[in-house]
Order: sequence, then C-alpha cells, then structure tokens
Amino acid sequence: MRKVYLIGFMGCGKSVIGKRLSFATKMPFYDMDYEIVKKTGMTIPEIFESYGEERFRDMETEFLRTFRDESCIIATGGGVPMRKENREIMRKSGLVFYLNAPFRDIWRRISTDRNRPIVQQSTRADVEKLYNDRKPHYFNNAHFKVETERRTLREITDYMA
Ligand code: S3P
Repeated sequence: MRKVYLIGFMGCGKSVIGKRLSFATKMPFYDMDYEIVKKTGMTIPEIFESYGEERFRDMETEFLRTFRDESCIIATGGGVPMRKENREIMRKSGLVFYLNAPFRDIWRRISTDRNRPIVQQSTRADVEKLYNDRKPHYFNNAHFKVETERRTLREITDYMA
C-alpha cells in the first residue's frame, strides 16, 4: 500500500478523518502541520509571522519531498495542492482523497481558530473566495472525491477504508 493523502480546505475534517482511517486501516497517521511544528519548534502563526507564508509553503514541499514512511495516511495543509510540485509528488507516491465540505460548515469550524493565520488575517468573504478559488485544484487533482456533508465520521471512514 502506498501513501494516502487527504486534501481539502481548512476545516474539512482531514485530521479527524485521517485519525479514524488510521485506526480502521492500521496505517500510521501524520498531520503535516504538526510535523512542521515539531520540526521547527514553532507554531504555524509564528512561522507565518517570522518567515512569511512563502517559507511555510517551502516547508510543506520539503516535507513531501523528504518524508519516507511508505505506507501511511497524511493530512495535508489546505494550501498544499496549490503548488504543482506538491501535486505531482502526491499523485506519484500515493492515492489522493479530496474531502469536500460546504463553506458554511467550514466557516463554523475555523472562524474562531487562532492557530490558522490565514483566517485570522482575512474577512469571511476573503476566506470564501479562497475556498472557491482552491476548489478546482482540489477537485482536479484527487483520485477520489469524498462528500462529507450529512455523513457521520463513521460513514466517511467506512467508505474510504
Ligand atoms: C492553510 C491551512 C492550514 C495550515 C496553514 C495554512 C491554508 O492547515 O497549513 O494555516 O493555506 O489553507 P489545515 O488545512 O490543516 O487547517
């Protein structure tokens, strides 16, 4: 089995679904943001603040380039599929699942999260625009599309496993 990549907008459920899927499949789970935080010893807002978003994007690409665990589940950051190189690495080394959720659900989950600098620095309308701009990138680069709306976590993970 190769890697399983979960892609989608912030708050679509990549981490929570990834953990459940890991439990169901016995494959180890990694959260890309958490791996970057562990490596740098900084929070995501601190990385954005000290180095800027572009450097954070480089760290994401670096993670994808160098991560060696062969068979595992990876929850990617919401911006990861925006880079062509990232998309190529993911599609070549594994299966890519896009988790889709409606914007109103996403906003409810992320609007008060202080750990997501993009949300902190933007209005709801800005974030909704980003959601709409990114959607085709997620959609066109996934091997599988998973609709999460009106489905329980169990239904979603059973379907994916
Ligand atoms: C980002 C999503 C975040 C994190 C960073 C930037 C984005 O990850 O990587 O705050 O640009 O969409 P999640 O998708 O896990 O929230």
